[in-house]
Amino acid sequence: MIPKVQLAPDYSISQLIAGGWQLQKRSDDAIEDLLQLSRLGITTYETSDTYSYGQSLLGRFLSRAQQSLPSDIFSGIQIHTRYTAPTTGSAPSKATIVDSIDRSLKELKVPRLDLLQLQWWNFNVPGFEETLSLIGDLRKAGKIHHIGVTNFGVHILDRVIATNVPVVTNQVQYSILDRRADNQLSAYAERYGINLLTYGALAGGFLGRKWISAHDPAAVPMSGKRFSHEYRSIIDLAGGWNTFQNLLRVLNTIASRHGCSPSAVALRWVLQKGPGIGVLIGASSPKQLLDLLPAFKIDLSPTDVTAIHKTVQHVNEDVGILERDVNSSLFAAIHSN
Ligand SMILES: NC(=O)c1ccc[n+]([C@@H]2O[C@H](COP(=O)([O-])OP(=O)(O)OC[C@H]3O[C@@H](n4cnc5c(N)ncnc54)[C@H](OP(=O)(O)O)[C@@H]3O)[C@@H](O)[C@H]2O)c1
Repeated sequence: MIPKVQLAPDYSISQLIAGGWQLQKRSDDAIEDLLQLSRLGITTYETSDTYSYGQSLLGRFLSRAQQSLPSDIFSGIQIHTRYTAPTTGSAPSKATIVDSIDRSLKELKVPRLDLLQLQWWNFNVPGFEETLSLIGDLRKAGKIHHIGVTNFGVHILDRVIATNVPVVTNQVQYSILDRRADNQLSAYAERYGINLLTYGALAGGFLGRKWISAHDPAAVPMSGKRFSHEYRSIIDLAGGWNTFQNLLRVLNTIASRHGCSPSAVALRWVLQKGPGIGVLIGASSPKQLLDLLPAFKIDLSPTDVTAIHKTVQHVNEDVGILERDVNSSLFAAIHSN
């Protein structure tokens, strides 16, 4: 039911990628859930060198998957990870980069990384081009199958293209609340053959039933409700809490008509309107994934899409700018998480 999409002539993934951020607080009990996600059609998983236990958990998952899953499913599993450059100070040395990639190989227990994504937050840190070139060399040496980047807008991708290192993906935020990738990035990525993988389709869970008619957790700090400050900041960019509540009501009405959840409608909108070929989703349990699967069956009419678009404001920035602007609320929110 979850289609496969092609990132390179020799590389296809499941259109939904199971995000690893949610797995950080889980123990090995998560492995059974991850096996179940594979049986339901997600065969691509993502983690990061910065997610605690993320890579080693997926390494243990791979070992179990080999024993427990039918060989046709197991052979289609991929794990995407990242190399994250330091956010302050001097350029990362060749040795630290190689060590990080070797640690990923060791923790995932694989001979080659399926997709290694470069995360580079602070461009005052030198060594960007050198790091990307080294990653290109490690690919030629067989440690990496494909290379991606994350949270890069057009101005940074210009520097990527200039290195001639073959980059097949760029991972960026995209949802009903955050359509910045539609501004310049999607046309640029298409021109240079870079596949966009998008995250945040559910705005970290805000685009879900439990927030309908709820108090703004930022205004009621003692409410005890867990929420992501990053995505709460995205709600402000889209018009604020009242605007967001109007959007939830619209999504709920559409969902009732389709017999699915508002979260499935939010995911459907990303699949139908988004610039990404693949969508990273923070559904780490089979129950959450089953709730979202109607997104692959329903179709949003032009009237539905107009009703959704009318509720929210659109920001005219390229992606990656606000995330790196020390004066923006998004920057502050990312660093408070
Ligand atoms: N490159 C980057 O900078 C970056 C940044 C962020 C994320 N990512 C990647 O993208 C992945 C996904 O992004 P994300 O986790 O930020 O956003 P997301 O997919 O928009 O939201 C995930 C959250 O939605 C809730 N959820 C899941 N299934 C649901 C359902 N069926 N109904 C209602 N709520 C549901 C869960 O929260 P509750 O269970 O708490 O309700 C979950 O934590 C991450 O795991 C990570 O791998 C990358």
